[in-house]
Amino acid sequence: MCGIVGYIGHRDAYPIIVKGLQRLEYRGYDSAGIALYDGTSINLSKTKGKVEDLKNKAEKGISLTGNLGVGHTRWATHGVPNDVNSHPHYSNSGDLVIIHNGIIENYESIKKELTKRGYTFKSDTDTEVLVNLIEEVKKTEEVKLGQAVQIALNQVVGAYAIAVFDKQKPDEIVVAKLGSPLAIGIGENEFFIASDASPFIEFTNNAVYLEDQEMAIVRLGKEIKLRKIKDDAIAYPKILELQLNLEQIEKGGYDHFMLKEIYEQPHAILDTYRGRLLADQGIIRMAGIDQHLEKFVNANRIIIVACGTSWHAGLVAEYIFEDLARIPVEVEYASEFRYRNPVITDKDVLIAISQSGETADTLAAIKLAKEKGAFVFGVCNVVGSSIARETDAGAYTHAGPEIGVASTKAFTTQITILTLMALKLGKEKGEFSESKFHEYLAELENIPAKVQIALESNPLIEIIADVYKDSSNCLYLGRGYNFPVALEGALKLKEISYIHAEGYPAAEMKHGPIALIDEQMPVIVIATNKGHYEKVVSNIQEIKSRKGMIIAVVTEGDEQVTELADHVVEIPETIESLTPLLTTIPLQLLSYHIAVMRNCNVDQPRNLAKSVTVE
Ligand code: G6P
Repeated sequence: MCGIVGYIGHRDAYPIIVKGLQRLEYRGYDSAGIALYDGTSINLSKTKGKVEDLKNKAEKGISLTGNLGVGHTRWATHGVPNDVNSHPHYSNSGDLVIIHNGIIENYESIKKELTKRGYTFKSDTDTEVLVNLIEEVKKTEEVKLGQAVQIALNQVVGAYAIAVFDKQKPDEIVVAKLGSPLAIGIGENEFFIASDASPFIEFTNNAVYLEDQEMAIVRLGKEIKLRKIKDDAIAYPKILELQLNLEQIEKGGYDHFMLKEIYEQPHAILDTYRGRLLADQGIIRMAGIDQHLEKFVNANRIIIVACGTSWHAGLVAEYIFEDLARIPVEVEYASEFRYRNPVITDKDVLIAISQSGETADTLAAIKLAKEKGAFVFGVCNVVGSSIARETDAGAYTHAGPEIGVASTKAFTTQITILTLMALKLGKEKGEFSESKFHEYLAELENIPAKVQIALESNPLIEIIADVYKDSSNCLYLGRGYNFPVALEGALKLKEISYIHAEGYPAAEMKHGPIALIDEQMPVIVIATNKGHYEKVVSNIQEIKSRKGMIIAVVTEGDEQVTELADHVVEIPETIESLTPLLTTIPLQLLSYHIAVMRNCNVDQPRNLAKSVTVE
């Protein structure tokens, strides 16, 4: 993972890089660093900790002048997070500076070779090895920086997005990409380099996204030239006009991005189905499906691959697709699927779900499925991301940037798009009547308003959070469509509050978790009036008779569970398959408030990162 930022132009590089790094902290935040060229020398500052710590250190320690610089925020892979292992890294001569997002897998052997030639290393990182390899190539082959980078990259195995500059030639930055994202923002005789467009959005709307195996020399006064790292072929940059705006990536008055993103869900869901769900005409329009309808309708099965919260959305989709479209579905962790020689045929459709569109395991699973002949469809949020580009077709969720590490609006918008897909396919296959179809469409249109109502429970949930904030364990139970919601609720709590939490199908509780229940144990039960309500009531009774504390998410007007539970949070009534869009809201809010009360860093929980571009 890691976030990288670079600038070359006429402005002061320091504020651009620092602000840019702060926007990229979702990618990693265990250490940070910056290197600025002031016209004669390179001033470098780095530290363990967050970008704020870097700011404090750099502002006291180094000259901040210069119109050329690079910066990095790290999620450690090789070497513990400390000052020395932080990027940027120098080459031995002190001329070259590099920032790197990714992993160089064969760095040990390269390091040995360089050591024999007299190179020394201060850090434990693979990146310091790479910058010295580039220096060695530059010296021995007597080539320019761009060529040296290219030759060196052909010797390494691994993944990277890098930016390198040379003190002796301060009018250019060389960048390259394989596996990790890299965008170049193009201004008026100035260039911005970053892991995504957020660091430069207020300066330019024009950007080029490097493809895998591409590199570029970003030189002042020149147009960007791209070339293929392997064979030197020229590639033509596609300059995209960005749709992102500044407001979308700022907190907008909320204390945390997570809370802002929870509250954005009514809008985000509406944006997901806007232009696709035409309820009055009884149509669902989705170009990615319309163009490949045969593939879906004739599919033997759908395989869903994803990680984390996106995998939970995949589990909800299993229920939706089997229920509404009657297509068999298998849901796989991308990291397992890619390494287990799965049986895949050209009659399979693989759906990859990913907020970021950059998750390394999901990307690898897609490549494997494509090799075996499956048709691959992507559900991504980030436009132009690697997964969006790698898939045969797809649908964007249009949720807007999600910055909080704990995923919220990505989950509900993924479910929305997957529901649209299942409804569309079910209709095509004649799985339900016209009137049933219309009923679904009309209810989907009501969902944003119902999510808004679910959000009104926030003050009540804050009170409940205060009661349970010191718990050490928590159990989440749900059945059917709401079993994956229980898993997602538990994941939210452990991610940001570090309380151990488990999600379980309510009936499975008797096969293990029931042993954990005592008067200390809060059990969050999703008990909506549709889908095995009576069975869930029995499960609640089983918990109560063992003195467990029940927090229940119920449908408005509920009586039976309300009687039994210690706390109830109501959600509006809806069709069973749409309940996850509502039941997940109180669980998101509960984990948010508990994390705030425990003084945890809600938006940047320890050890996690938003975008996992390493396997
Ligand atoms: C990380 C994030 C999670 C996310 C998962 C999958 O673990 O912290 O929030 O669900 O990656 O990410 P993706 O971008 O593929 O949905």
